[in-house]
Amino acid sequence: MNGKQAAGQKAIDEIKEGMTIGLGTGSTVYYFLEALAEKVADGFELTGVATSQKTIDLAKEWRIPMLPLNEVTKIDVTIDGADEVDSQLSGIKGGGGALLYEKLVAKASDRRIWIVDSSKKVEQLGTFPLPVEVVPFGWKHVEAYFTGKGYHPKLRCSADGQPYVTDAHHNILDLHLQSITNAEELANELDHLTGVVEHGLFIGMTEKVIIGYPDGHTETLE
Ligand code: A5P
Repeated sequence: MNGKQAAGQKAIDEIKEGMTIGLGTGSTVYYFLEALAEKVADGFELTGVATSQKTIDLAKEWRIPMLPLNEVTKIDVTIDGADEVDSQLSGIKGGGGALLYEKLVAKASDRRIWIVDSSKKVEQLGTFPLPVEVVPFGWKHVEAYFTGKGYHPKLRCSADGQPYVTDAHHNILDLHLQSITNAEELANELDHLTGVVEHGLFIGMTEKVIIGYPDGHTETLE
């Protein structure tokens, strides 16, 4: 047992038969999907809506019934991970590159629950580099803007050294900010920048956070 597994398994308590469930992305969500797959195997009926190709692949492998976001009108609850969470339940997401689809699914959901291990709890957001999804056309100009603002952008690259490409065919600039003193102001700035598709600041976008600890116990913030 580890903290991610503890949080992922605990989130299964939130799931009721017949629900449409947003399925997040990442190594913590993996454990949730594993637990969900067991329910499906036992005959539990539900529908999943994925936030990434990685999650679609896992869900298919585990025979979790899926629909694309465009084919559902309502998502009862979304279970997703996060890279940092503060005491106000604001967070940074997108370490796995799925921030755009994660935000779209989160916004379409009645309730949102994050599952994290205890290392993700922070006093102030910003130690984790903030992912900003940008269109490939002219991204260097957005990068130059961020450099000018002192945001220390770094183009995310894949293991082969090539620019990382998101499921929506964009690139990611990770902002190495160290600390974010006013997350709302920064989110507002990023929301209005041409060339920026989305950013990983999720403010007021979760109702509950399940934190898993290495000894297997969990804590819930809401
Ligand atoms: C995916 O883009 C992210 O938002 C993940 O939800 C986040 O990075 C948490 O991932 P882990 O559960 O793998 O730490």
